[in-house]
Amino acid sequence: MGDMRTELSFPNLAEIETELLAVLAADTQSSKAADAKPEPVLLTSNEAVKAAAAAVLASGEYKAGANETLLLHAPAGLKAKRLLLVGLGKQAKATVNGVRNAAGTAVRFTKPRGIRDLTFALPEAELLPPGPCTRAAIEGAFVGDYDPDTYRSDRKDQSVKSFTLAAAEKTDKATLEAAFAEGVIVGESQNFTRSLVNEPGNKLTPTVLGHRSARMAEEVGLGWSVFSTDKLHDLKMGAFWSVSQGSAEPPALIVLRYQPEGVKDGPILGLVGKGITFDTGGISIKPSDNMEKMKYDMAGGAAMIGAMRAIALLKPKVRVIGIVCAAENMPDGKAYKPGDVVTAMSGKTIDVINTDAEGRLVLADGLTYAKSLGATHLIDAATLTGACVVALGYANSGVFSNDEESYGKFEAALGVSGEKFWRLPLGEEYSEQIKSDIGDIKNTGGRWGGAITAAEFLKVFAEDTPWIHLDIAGMAWVEDSKPYIAKGPSGFAVRSILEWVRSY
Ligand code: BES
Ligand code: MN
Ligand code: ZN
Repeated sequence: MGDMRTELSFPNLAEIETELLAVLAADTQSSKAADAKPEPVLLTSNEAVKAAAAAVLASGEYKAGANETLLLHAPAGLKAKRLLLVGLGKQAKATVNGVRNAAGTAVRFTKPRGIRDLTFALPEAELLPPGPCTRAAIEGAFVGDYDPDTYRSDRKDQSVKSFTLAAAEKTDKATLEAAFAEGVIVGESQNFTRSLVNEPGNKLTPTVLGHRSARMAEEVGLGWSVFSTDKLHDLKMGAFWSVSQGSAEPPALIVLRYQPEGVKDGPILGLVGKGITFDTGGISIKPSDNMEKMKYDMAGGAAMIGAMRAIALLKPKVRVIGIVCAAENMPDGKAYKPGDVVTAMSGKTIDVINTDAEGRLVLADGLTYAKSLGATHLIDAATLTGACVVALGYANSGVFSNDEESYGKFEAALGVSGEKFWRLPLGEEYSEQIKSDIGDIKNTGGRWGGAITAAEFLKVFAEDTPWIHLDIAGMAWVEDSKPYIAKGPSGFAVRSILEWVRSY
């Protein structure tokens, strides 16, 4: 993880001595006419800053499009050495999430130029409340600062050393300080998840994922246990074990417990993550093309671990149990095979059609286990299906739920997290597809609606417990870098899971 220092200040922007002052700009043009020219303005009330940018804004060279940047050296009338404009797009459509991304853009602009110190001015605009913007900007700065280059010998630590958030002098200090502290915790937790997801399968085995989780738990004061093969047998986790049995690496059943002081009743939230540290497909082996990417098949588990870290530090008043089912899916003489029938912890028998549909098997036992530990509400996250990527591409993750109240809370959480999920349906028409003649249920439902039949499979194990399923296969890895985030592990879903938990 980078070692970016962060600070909140309430300065006069013109007086700040900094290597780079980043200020947001937006387009105020409201006409939709084809020949309507952008009318960019700076989102600050500071007259000196506005004057410094007046000429370039009038030139038409800069349109203030989303994450569009423009750098001015030695801006007249300012003590800052450089003034960076970062665009938010149309002012009428400006969002807090846009500010999150803009902060990431400013950091990623700064990093490769060897500039180590940056001040980011919070926008002053009607649609952009200072509290949420403070938190979002800090999160965005951490997200922007992360690069997945830990294994490169020529790695230069280009981390921004100091990120200062500059709020308007008149804003309420206590509110902003609280939002700022939250942003640091959430941003660091998201990057913690990314650092786990970035690890290759040979370095991050299930056992190592267990060690990393335990170390984190000790640091932030979570209860923890990491179990392996014997415990899977004791608990009769036949589904989880069947996936693991073909690997020389033992499985890890990772349990993290958050118990807030004095909370003895109310809901217990169960967070269950898929932790396949490498997915070859097993005997139903995957094609070699892109198989290397299957090191990120533990991203759902890593999201739960990152969310548990943030929960431990933010201390919501609700009990939470995090469970990660970690295993490696390998072909081997001992591996499970298509046609095998395995008995899950719940007692249900599963007819294995395809050993590459392993995620739902480990999650089945994870969900049952969470319930056995007292979870009253369940949420799971998994890079579960390629079909979900076919359906939603790289812009939205899939979300499924058997309970309107839980789902309503999740939808509300998205308003804070800025992450995009799209609800997909469940229903008997789909569960038909996973009926088996041989056992209680098949582990694949054929070609059509693959993300949905996978969700229907999990629903059988959630039973009547309110449950949300997140299929993050498309979003856990950034395929093409963006101005505000590096190509590689995204840490997607950490923020939404966290906000969902905080809503109880
Ligand atoms: N880990 C994969 C899903 C996946 C695919 C994640 C692409 C990220 C990117 C999962 O275990 C899997 O292999 N699913 C199969 C299910 C099929 C055999 C029913 C799939 O999606 O093809
Ligand atoms: Mn698979
Ligand atoms: Zn998988």
